[in-house]
Formats: sequence, structure tokens, C-alpha cells
Amino acid sequence: MGGQRIGIVGSGLIGRAWALLFASAGYRVQLYDILESQIATALDDLREELQQLEAKGALRGSLTAAVQFELISGCTQLKELVQDALHIQECVPEQLQLKRSLYAQLDELLEPQTVLASSTSTFMPSLFSESLKRRSQILVAHPLNPPYFIPLVELVPAPWTTEEALERTRLLMLALGQRPVVLKREIQGFATNRIQYAILNEVWRLVSTGIISVADADRVLSDGLGMRYALMGSLETAHLNAPGGIADYFQRFGGEIAAVSATYGPTPDMGAEAETLAEIARQCEELVPLEALPARRAARDEFLTRLAQLKRQLP
Ligand code: NAI
Repeated sequence: MGGQRIGIVGSGLIGRAWALLFASAGYRVQLYDILESQIATALDDLREELQQLEAKGALRGSLTAAVQFELISGCTQLKELVQDALHIQECVPEQLQLKRSLYAQLDELLEPQTVLASSTSTFMPSLFSESLKRRSQILVAHPLNPPYFIPLVELVPAPWTTEEALERTRLLMLALGQRPVVLKREIQGFATNRIQYAILNEVWRLVSTGIISVADADRVLSDGLGMRYALMGSLETAHLNAPGGIADYFQRFGGEIAAVSATYGPTPDMGAEAETLAEIARQCEELVPLEALPARRAARDEFLTRLAQLKRQLP
């Protein structure tokens, strides 16, 4: 593993997080960015972050912070980044044209043994790989923020991605201590955002019709459903909630679920519903003023660190 090289394209928030994850498992990581100054800033930040994680006892892997930092270096040439790489993780901004032109460039450089994975949260891999020579080596590996504390990675193949590229990436994610899930084929929103948006839609409808406040709608998740979901998903939850397991659960409650679901109403167009948006923003900002967002993000990360530790202690 020590000699295997990982290339990261784009050294912003997510590129840096991937650098930490790969280094924690002993991979040599090169960070590339279109802005050279950004690479230097990223390396400084990573050194500091590793030291802080170590001081807090939250450093992943068995190597010290100093050793992990030694594994990470900057790189100013795409060609050099791609050479002999086992895996390239793309983390440039979420703009389709930008991704398309970058993938066209990478296509000329990519070697046959390299898997090229995009961190994109919205673009299906076929959208930026269809016309490429190396398209069978390209897929999506979508993390959740902050990836250092949330282990899920969604792996999404294009119709032409090989099973081998998918399986190799799955094993690589496991080697990092991440928890990959594999979609059998691409779909808009992948699995995570489809489920997340279903929740957002209903929360929006409940708040906009005056049924519940923003604070209480969020507490339905944080103090209720989310307590279970940190351990098990919605299907296992159902499986445990009826004496005869999940088949029994849906036989008992399927009719009720369908009846409630039929009352949901149309999908909200959140950006266009100015009045509801202003009201939701007002309530959210009352709970967490904009100037308090950094502190609240830090609290979230602290909580997720402890939750991740707790989950690792469980059998
Ligand atoms: P960011 O804006 O923090 O970082 C993007 C970096 O890419 C910047 O350093 C920029 O200089 C660099 N860049 C721009 N054009 C480039 C090019 N042609 N070649 C090389 N580098 C280039 O963005 P962020 O948040 O890290 O997002 C990156 C990707 O990760 C996006 O596809 C996003 O959808 C995905 N993602 C983001 C999450 C988030 O919460 N921010 C969560 C999961 C995925």
C-alpha cells in the first residue's frame, strides 16, 4: 500500500477531506489545483488539521499526524498527478462544463490501471464521461460532508463503467475505513439526495402550511427518527417494529402508509416560494444566526466525531 499513489484534483473542502482519508490509510497522496496558491494553503491547513485531530484523539488510522502529513504533497502538473496513479479523485466545483473539460483533459493522460472517480453530488457519471476513450474507468464516488466523520460513500457507475473499476473502488473505500454503498445503475440524485429531498419536501410542506415550526420539524429528526437512523435504516427499523418482522409490518401498516402518503400534495418549488422561504429563513436564523454558523458547524463535527467513535465501539 505504501507505494500506491492517489491523485486528487481540486484542493478545496472535499479535496482536502479526501487527502486526509487516503493518508490515514497510508496511501501517498498528491494534491493538484488549478490555483497554485490554493495548494500551498491546503497543505498548511492539512498540517494544522492533522495536529488538531491528533491532539483531540480523533486521528484516523494507526500512523501519527506527522507521518500522515509526510504522505501528502502538492502537484502543479496534471500529467505528473496521473502518472502511475492507482486512483484519481476529482473534487473541482460543481459545474458541468468545468467537469466536462477537465475529464476530456484527463482522458488523454489516464493510464489503464487508474480509476477516475468524481466527488460530484449531483451529476450522473454519464454526463461527463460518455464520449471519452477511458470511460469504462470512470465513476462517481460521492462522499457526505464532513467525510472524515461520515463514513458513507455512494458509488455510482455509468452504463459503461466496468464491474472491476466499481469493485476496486469499493475495496479502496473499505481500506480507508469508509462505508461504501453501490448503486447498480445511475439515477438523478443518487440514493442519498433522493431520500434527503423526500424528507426536505415534507418538512417544507408541514412548515409552509403552519402545522409545525422549523425548530420542531427539525427535532422530529434530531430527537426522534435520527436517533434510530444513526444505527439502522428505515427498512430495518420497520423490520424490528412488528412481531413478525418486515413482511408483518407492511401487512399491518402498508394501508396506513399509503393513505398518509396520498395526502402529501405537490412537490414544492423551494426557490420560487418566496414567502415560505423568507419565513423558514427567519426561523432558522433565529435558531442559528448567520454569524453563529461556523460555531454550529464545529459543534456538528464534534458531535459526529463522538458518534463515529461510539459506532466503532459497537459490535
Ligand atoms: P471547493 O470550491 O471548496 O473546491 C474546489 C477546488 O477546485 C478549488 O480549490 C478550486 O481552485 C479547484 N479547481 C477549480 N477548477 C479546477 C480545475 N480545472 N482543475 C483543478 N482544480 C480546480 O468545492 P468543494 O466543496 O470541495 O466541492 C468539490 C466537489 O465535491 C463538487 O463536485 C461537489 O459537488 C462535491 N461535494 C461537495 C460536498 C460539500 O459539502 N461541499 C459534499 C459532497 C460532494
